[in-house]
Amino acid sequence: MSKVTVIGAGNVGATCANVLAFYRIADEVVMLDVKEGVAEGKAIDMLQTAQTLGFETKITGVTGDYSATAGSDVYVVTSGIPRKPGMTREELIGTNAKIVKSVVENCLKNSPNAVFIIISNPMDTMTYLTLKATGLPKNRVIGMGGALDSSRFKYYLSQALKSNPAQIEGIVIGGHGDTTMIPLKRFATCSGVPVSSLLDAAALDKVVSDTMVGGATLTGLLGTSAWYAPGAAGAYVASSVLNDYKRLIPSCVYLEGEYGQSDICIGVPAVIGRSGVERIVDFKLNDEEKALFEKSADAVRKTNNVLKEIGAL
Ligand code: LAC
Repeated sequence: MSKVTVIGAGNVGATCANVLAFYRIADEVVMLDVKEGVAEGKAIDMLQTAQTLGFETKITGVTGDYSATAGSDVYVVTSGIPRKPGMTREELIGTNAKIVKSVVENCLKNSPNAVFIIISNPMDTMTYLTLKATGLPKNRVIGMGGALDSSRFKYYLSQALKSNPAQIEGIVIGGHGDTTMIPLKRFATCSGVPVSSLLDAAALDKVVSDTMVGGATLTGLLGTSAWYAPGAAGAYVASSVLNDYKRLIPSCVYLEGEYGQSDICIGVPAVIGRSGVERIVDFKLNDEEKALFEKSADAVRKTNNVLKEIGAL
């Protein structure tokens, strides 16, 4: 029996829970929110789709009752406020750091062996905070940014190529920020064919810049941050943990020398299995990519430093 708790039953959390339940990724899904009745209501609403859609996953919603989450294999943390149009993810740090810290402490009291998937923004810094505040081993804390950013990269590539999105491969590394993420255009393919031989340089650069502001574009359209792709990406990472799929997923993980960086959580390709981060795939970047990665790490580190300034670490 596998159990996943999603903390935060807002747009992203509820979408993640719905994907986990509908695709039977977990046997049991718990949603926890601080707003009275919201998680309960969303759980009942989802359960009322069980017959129509044909799934038997157990879904529970609770208001602040962490004991209902006991024995979770995985926690997906989406708590905190989302950004509004014009805001950066980094501006959320003061509010979200306090929330995320107390959330993960409560989760651990009830499920000491769980793996944590962090979605709350600024995601790289919230992942780092989770790791440092709890002292958890580094394999058990995964930031979900690269999975989402890569899915946006693949979407924009499929649009530019006018091709089947399922045939596109591509990864985004670096921070989960409008200026820090690095879509690796050199490694993207359409059914194994390098996209650099299918698109001209200007078209490819447009895909890269559209990907980088992919979240901000949606925030502008929606008036709040996106949820379908973030929620689904969280479930995708969770399923690799629960089923020990060992998927290679660009994930925000703790580095100790890999890619020339230490004491930072940032997006790199990692094998995700039952124990969480099983292996970091440290492949050779070219000089241009290396320079972008260093710049990205500097920006993430600057945001991490705010944790100390506000007394969160
Ligand atoms: C986004 C938020 C979830 O990128 O970070 O849509």
